[in-house]
Amino acid sequence: MRLTLQSTPLAEIAADWLVVGLWENEALAGSVRELDAKLGGLVAKLIEQRDVAGKPKELTPLYQVAGLAAKRLLLVGLGPRGKADYASLLSSSAAAAKMLSTKPTQRIALAIPEGALNADAALRACAQGMYQGSSTAGIRKSATERTPPDEVCLIVRAVDGTVQEATMRAEIEGRATNLARELVNLPPCDLYPETFAERARDVASKAGLQAQILDEGQLVAECMNSLLAVACGSERPPRLVVLRHLKGGAKPTLALVGKGVTFDSGGLSLKTTDQMVDMKCDMAGAAAVLGAMQAIAELNVPVNVIGVMALVENMPSGKAMKLGDVLKARNGKTIEVLNTDAEGRLILADALAYAVDLKASHLIDLATLTGACMVALGHDVAGLMSNDEAWSQKVLMATQAAGEKAWPLPMLPHYRDMIKSDIADMKNTGGSRYAGAISAAKFLEEFVGAVPWVHLDIAGPSWAEKENATREAGGTGCFVRTLVEVARAY
Ligand code: BES
Ligand code: MN
Ligand code: ZN
Repeated sequence: MRLTLQSTPLAEIAADWLVVGLWENEALAGSVRELDAKLGGLVAKLIEQRDVAGKPKELTPLYQVAGLAAKRLLLVGLGPRGKADYASLLSSSAAAAKMLSTKPTQRIALAIPEGALNADAALRACAQGMYQGSSTAGIRKSATERTPPDEVCLIVRAVDGTVQEATMRAEIEGRATNLARELVNLPPCDLYPETFAERARDVASKAGLQAQILDEGQLVAECMNSLLAVACGSERPPRLVVLRHLKGGAKPTLALVGKGVTFDSGGLSLKTTDQMVDMKCDMAGAAAVLGAMQAIAELNVPVNVIGVMALVENMPSGKAMKLGDVLKARNGKTIEVLNTDAEGRLILADALAYAVDLKASHLIDLATLTGACMVALGHDVAGLMSNDEAWSQKVLMATQAAGEKAWPLPMLPHYRDMIKSDIADMKNTGGSRYAGAISAAKFLEEFVGAVPWVHLDIAGPSWAEKENATREAGGTGCFVRTLVEVARAY
């Protein structure tokens, strides 16, 4: 899917579809009003007849419209203008793309809505919606059921440098998000630590990132015993991928750390079929880091960013770690393993300590870490936990700018008691079913030293169990855009 730009009057644009947004409860204005004049007042009439209301994601396809150069017209409800934000424009555009991508199309012309947000954000939100709505989870279907258009032409009032830059950014973020989505959707027989690492190497060489891949031997040498303990039940050896984008000179370094469990069976604390069925998604944190690193490199953001991806498969076997085992993590702290299904924190322990040793000034980790976070916040909202108020505010602001949802959970000192162990420095479970997302974060906090750190528990938003009007089921590519936003503001 190519993004192009044009500033032609809407009635004159040649395309398979012209997509035009309508605000709810508002008279037609600006370029849409000019269009309607050329169509003999067709749209105003539909509104007057109450056939069209402009409700969020409302879709009205119109065929053989007299006075229109495009073959067809799609009216898309945008909701009330006063409530419009990045997320609402993205959803409306995604709903349109989801409808249009059920049939092959060459060229979609999309009128960027006027009168809400700044022009730059409105353009990027609509473009991201096109990527989201037209991307498919059916990556192994012999006949595709969804085809993205060859070209999406964004129609703006005037093409200038700002608009061109926004289009470039939208294209880069769209591909990066699709990369994360694709990795999450890939079956675990094809995507495992070695193949993920090779894909990362490939992404890095194309985007101009330095890549370093630590294999089993190097992980042993680096004392990553906690990560290795998770990996040892599997036939598939672990990898740790480190990507570097060092374009900020003497400025501080941001490190992004991702949980990359390519399949989480639970290990000896085996999950049930129902719990295990979607566990190929347990590498969504690492996928978000890879997508973000690709975008940050392609955008040439003048900052220092390091991406660390901890890649393992969590399996039961005669070699698997056992309940009661005590591990010594990279930073010297000891961990009593009381549940092998709490493996994410074990691999992140070493990956975070490694990022600290690489002299990270600020840390963000992303992990499909706990079902408890979904109990607390549902499917669509990530839990945000931190050891630093200012840093957590910065990350929260970035989520809003990117139209993504995260919500803070408290990190009060007494929660540390939940991970007290009788025989080691800590245990890897919270010991009860309450505050499970927080006890997991308290565990991670033990490995970040004094570095400002934000933990995003993305167990909910990284995976869509059901399809909806704006996307198919499966991987969502969540938080790639947020990470790019954080890097740009860093
Ligand atoms: N990968 C899971 C968490 C998860 C659950 C992600 C559902 C996405 C959807 C994680 O490794 C896990 O199994 N967590 C356990 C922790 C418990 C054993 C302390 C959980 O949430 O049950
Ligand atoms: Mn698990
Ligand atoms: Zn897991």
